[in-house]
Amino acid sequence: MNLKERCPIIRFSAFGDERGKLIVIEGGETIPFDIKRVFYIYESDGSMVRGQHANKKSEFVLVNVAGKSKVRITDASEELVVTLDQPMIGVYIPKMLWKDMYDFSQDSVLLVLASTHYDEKEYIRDYSEYKRAVNSEGE
Ligand code: TYD
Repeated sequence: MNLKERCPIIRFSAFGDERGKLIVIEGGETIPFDIKRVFYIYESDGSMVRGQHANKKSEFVLVNVAGKSKVRITDASEELVVTLDQPMIGVYIPKMLWKDMYDFSQDSVLLVLASTHYDEKEYIRDYSEYKRAVNSEGE
């Protein structure tokens, strides 16, 4: 499977009427895991790069609920850039992919849904180490 297939764009149900808009995200249904953790990133300006890690266990869905940002995803051979600029659109990121989030608009609020509780030990924050881990997986 290529990266685009491994990291599908998910469109959430949107309910809008004269009172405003409402988006629904259900763990295990709209997204392919049960949500254990939610965090959001804001006040990262356009010059900042976040992420810069891979996770051995966690799966994520990223949604810009306000503003926009980009996420660059790589498996150390292929690269995929996804622009997140609509509150009803998310991108699924399975485990063991390297990701960088960048190009944050001033009003960006990047919501992250995660399949695990936080555990620093499952993070790979060194890209050379990540490449070694990916290469040894394929052996
Ligand atoms: P970091 O992993 O650098 O954020 P990002 O990948 O989004 O750029 O996390 C920043 C700080 O927040 C770091 O000290 C760890 C802490 N943190 C938690 O305690 N729990 C969490 O769920 C997350 C995502 C981060």
